[in-house]
Amino acid sequence: MANTWRPDGWRGHEVRQVPEYPDAARLAATEATLSQFPPLVFAGEARRLKEHLARVADGKAFLLQGGDCAESFAEFHPDNIRDTFKVLLQMSVVLTFGAACPVVKVGRVAGQFAKPRSAPTEKQDGFELPSYRGDIINDAAFDEAGRTPDPDRLVRAYNQAAATLNLLRAFAQGGFADLRKVHRWNLDFVGSSPQGARYEEMAERIDEALSFMEACGVTGEAVQQMRETDFYTSHEALLLYYEQALTRQDSLTGQWYDTSAHMLWVGNRTRQLDSAHVEFLRGVGNPLGMKISGELQPDELLRLLDVLNPANEAGRMTLISRMGVDQVESGLVQLIRAVEGEGRKVVWSCDPMHGNTIKASNGYKTRPFDRILAEVRTFFDVHQAEGTYAGGVHFEMTGQDVTECIGGAQAITEERLADRYHTHCDPRLNASQSLELAFLLAESLKAQRTGNAAPIAVAS
Ligand code: PEP
Ligand code: CO
Repeated sequence: MANTWRPDGWRGHEVRQVPEYPDAARLAATEATLSQFPPLVFAGEARRLKEHLARVADGKAFLLQGGDCAESFAEFHPDNIRDTFKVLLQMSVVLTFGAACPVVKVGRVAGQFAKPRSAPTEKQDGFELPSYRGDIINDAAFDEAGRTPDPDRLVRAYNQAAATLNLLRAFAQGGFADLRKVHRWNLDFVGSSPQGARYEEMAERIDEALSFMEACGVTGEAVQQMRETDFYTSHEALLLYYEQALTRQDSLTGQWYDTSAHMLWVGNRTRQLDSAHVEFLRGVGNPLGMKISGELQPDELLRLLDVLNPANEAGRMTLISRMGVDQVESGLVQLIRAVEGEGRKVVWSCDPMHGNTIKASNGYKTRPFDRILAEVRTFFDVHQAEGTYAGGVHFEMTGQDVTECIGGAQAITEERLADRYHTHCDPRLNASQSLELAFLLAESLKAQRTGNAAPIAVAS
């Protein structure tokens, strides 16, 4: 692999999971347009996230990365953005308070539009059409026009990402995330649930602590961290036309950054050593994630780290294991030993969603909540046994009251999946399941940080 890197160098490599556009001229014109649009994030912000992630790699903070499986044009609404942000804030405060651990918050949001698919086409009633690949590429509607990749969608996705990010920045810095508003983040439908009540109790204790500090002169006016929060964005860097168009050279350092998000990750289906996606990502300065499954061999992982993080910079690489509860133990141990044995600095994060997807008897794609928790618990156990740091989680969630994953304290059954199954792609945790996960995570994280083995309980 040549060392010289160019934003368009990926075009000489095998491009997987990106469809052909029938109108190549219109695609090229759209790329030219996008490349003139303002960056969505600044290089300095991406560097700051990398510093935060270096602290995670060092065992001093925890990464909370979550959001929609796929953002959609139809669900674009300020209330949805607000409610997802609220739940992420709640989860973060549960971890910060419960485990006395700083939390790095990264949304799967403001750009999470393109989806890798297991099959290039889909059949319905004898008709075969290209698969739906996310709203930035084509339409979920099963008709020829809808499923044809349309370049205009890149611009629409950019505009939606810009507006979403603008609102998130306002929430993070404009007073909404002020710790003194900790009670207001509870969503109405969660408030009456056991998780909601537990959250309220914790919020009372935070209030007391804040009142005490205020009486001592430590006020929200004086301390920025009490009234604002850092919130970062991320998505899978899948549609390389979009990513390239938003890649810019930082005037301060001369380094290239993909300014479509603070953090980008390469998916499990596009992370081959020779792939276009790896070639593209190796040249941008952003912090990177890489999804890893049980099939990945230790040698290949080390070679991928050579390519993506040749300087072994802490905070650059987050390895997001998505093995499934049955494989996580055997799959993860060998990778941890290879990576840590060579002194590679990485954040180990657990995606307990993508390896635990099943089809319910009524045909719905779902994920049992107890399997999700069991994978997280095993992830912590394996790290404890290996003497390494379980540094983060990566999950698909929404602030809406959906019924997409079975189980949890609400005991969502297969029969109830149909009630509010709204996802455009994979089944997500709803707000109360997300909060339940956070409470269980806080226990595990506390045990890890205090050296007491107290793995989280699996809900029945
Ligand atoms: C995803 O995160 O939505 C995804 C497709 O994950 P993976 O690459 O792990 O399959
Ligand atoms: Co998904």
